Amino acid sequence: MSRKRLCMVGAGRVGRLHTRNLIERAGRRAEVAAIVDPSLDTAGKLAADYAVGAVYATLEEALAHGPYDGAVITTPTFTHRALAVAALDAGLHVHLEKPMAMNLDECAGITAALRRSDRILQLGFMRRFDRDFIEAAELLRGGTIGAPMIIKSLTHGPGLPPAWANDIRTSNGMLAEVNSHDLDTVNWFAGAEPVDIHVRVANFKGRERGVTTEHFYDTLLATVTFESGAIASIAGVCPADYGYDARVEVTCTGGMIQVGGTGPGGLASIVSGTSRRGEAVFGSWRDRFADAYTREMVEFLAAMDGEPVRVGAAEGTRAVALVLAGTMSMLERRTVALSELRAPGLTLSWQSGAAAA
Ligand SMILES: NC(=O)c1ccc[n+]([C@@H]2O[C@H](COP(=O)([O-])OP(=O)(O)OC[C@H]3O[C@@H](n4cnc5c(N)ncnc54)[C@H](O)[C@@H]3O)[C@@H](O)[C@H]2O)c1
Repeated sequence: MSRKRLCMVGAGRVGRLHTRNLIERAGRRAEVAAIVDPSLDTAGKLAADYAVGAVYATLEEALAHGPYDGAVITTPTFTHRALAVAALDAGLHVHLEKPMAMNLDECAGITAALRRSDRILQLGFMRRFDRDFIEAAELLRGGTIGAPMIIKSLTHGPGLPPAWANDIRTSNGMLAEVNSHDLDTVNWFAGAEPVDIHVRVANFKGRERGVTTEHFYDTLLATVTFESGAIASIAGVCPADYGYDARVEVTCTGGMIQVGGTGPGGLASIVSGTSRRGEAVFGSWRDRFADAYTREMVEFLAAMDGEPVRVGAAEGTRAVALVLAGTMSMLERRTVALSELRAPGLTLSWQSGAAAA
């Protein structure tokens, strides 16, 4: 495997995490050759911390100083389409953070760029790279535990995300920013297409934290039904303050599976009777999924050399569809069928000026 030259696009929280993992934990298989961020100060600090030689304010400038094998895109959601399409059209492999994009038109634009390239696109659903989540998915597919009946998934994040992520106009809100991980997980574990979604939300801490953005919520409960008949619930709280909490329980016709705990532990199964629960509390998604984030970057490098892409545009698009239907459900206080997103002329009221879903 040749050493890959990468362009890190976005130097915020996730850009920093992936830069560190690529430089310190990927076995010298990658060189981060450039960092792009309109805040040159932010880019410069990250570059200085990891001895990256070049910083640019735009991807366009970075591309002019290439070549690179791949781009790792870690910018706000509303920038994903333009950046992913530019990188793919320039012949770069792309790791794109979740959520894939703001709406289905944007997902289709990225997918079209992927198809006209001979490159790969990996989506940043890091749970797909977590040992326990992978083991649970394999157990479910193996058939020994029967068919999934009910899936309960929760993600509680410790603190408020960046301001752009609190505004449904620029991020689709917490359902996208925090709980699209759960939306992807329940799709993955159900192994079936989603049919409809219902979302209820509440706001307990926004005002005291100075968030006055319209439609901000810090608490949500979603239910999703699948073509198989399976049903899923997703709970979200952010800020939860007590730590980072990501857990899933799947009840099947022949048993049940639990993945994750509030602290270091692992997968427990009633079939095996084992339960591994830690006593420490995970402080952040960086701690809970530390190994998964490293594996995600290592597999991105391997995929450039022809290894399979574990999670890509199809899964990203499916999660965005659930985010859109879920946000419609929240705003209109009703259950929304995924098929409604295909209605001709549909507009997403909260994405002002945005094209149809
Ligand atoms: N996989 C995960 O666990 C996880 C966790 C948190 C965030 N995310 C996702 O990662 C992405 C970034 O989130 P974050 O928390 O790091 O955000 P952030 O606000 O901390 O950082 C984003 C950075 O992107 C920069 N930026 C904005 N426009 C840009 C452009 N056109 N080109 C280059 N840089 C640009 C900003 O200046 C900022 O420094 C989002 O899609 C978010 O949903 C994923």
